[in-house]
Amino acid sequence: MFYILVVGFVAFISSSGASDLQTYFNLIDQNHDGKVFSDELFVFFNTFYEEKPEQGTLSLLKAKQIENHIVKKYNQNSTRNYLTLFDLEHRFVDLYAIQNQFPTFLFNGYEPEQVHLSYTHNIFNEMYVSFVTRERPSSNLRPIVHYCEKNCLAIGETTTYNVDNWHYWIHHIYIRGLEPGMKYNYKLGFIEPDNVTIRHLYSNEHWTFQTSSSLEKQGTEIVYIYGDMGTIMPLGFEVTKSIIEDFNKKKNERANYVVHVGDIAYAGTGGEMEVQTIWDLFMNQIAP
Ligand SMILES: *[C@@H]1O[C@H](CO)[C@@H](O)[C@H](O)[C@H]1NC(C)=O
Ligand SMILES: *[C@@H]1O[C@H](CO)[C@@H](O)[C@H](O)[C@H]1NC(C)=O
Repeated sequence: MFYILVVGFVAFISSSGASDLQTYFNLIDQNHDGKVFSDELFVFFNTFYEEKPEQGTLSLLKAKQIENHIVKKYNQNSTRNYLTLFDLEHRFVDLYAIQNQFPTFLFNGYEPEQVHLSYTHNIFNEMYVSFVTRERPSSNLRPIVHYCEKNCLAIGETTTYNVDNWHYWIHHIYIRGLEPGMKYNYKLGFIEPDNVTIRHLYSNEHWTFQTSSSLEKQGTEIVYIYGDMGTIMPLGFEVTKSIIEDFNKKKNERANYVVHVGDIAYAGTGGEMEVQTIWDLFMNQIAP
């Protein structure tokens, strides 16, 4: 049953227009024949890594071997000597499956994706929430976070920018007046200018946040720090997968929060160009 669902979703993704993965795949697939060969991977890696491999036949040969290994590993042991978009999608759906989730953000224009929570300077009483939507429901609607049954509504702002033709919407909301050491389930959505009528509201059983306990009540705090977490696909999936498996293995040792440091997404080419799709893929992978 589960297998059928996964296959179903892969088919759905394939038919849902240009996904981030499709855009990403096209970047690697230089001749646009729908096949990524090891030499195309090689060129791509060189574009996105700052450190160029040493010149010379030996390191070139080594690079080739690595790339051949990647192709073999990620194409489901097929006899093909190239990767297809399907190979990447397969990995992506796999990632969500280990958390019993599906990448539903691919399908709905107002659905919150790339959800991100962060502490402010006041770790006891405040939280900062941001998320992205593919479309903006309407310019007079404002983003909200609803975080408890009674009167717990914070209203935020919407912004966007245009680099690399990126045209999604970023919403951020500052929540104040929270209780210290409290766990909140939250919902995200949009509200009318009257600040009463909620137009859209999304929730997910995984969406919770917790404020820091007051100093006298503080016990052990567990923090996970991930550095240098590149998202070069398909290798980046491997990193995210191991992080999720880490979380799942240590259920009795939940991290209070996660810090992502350094070289996060390799979205730059070293020049002017920055590929926004890489940020989207990265942020969606680390979202709760
Ligand atoms: C591919 O083959 C290797 C070695 O035979 C095996 O360990 C791995 O599980 C296979 N992968 C898939 C996706 O079938
Ligand atoms: C709605 O809330 C925003 C800020 O949260 C405020 O600026 C605005 O004046 C409020 N509008 C009404 C009608 O109360």
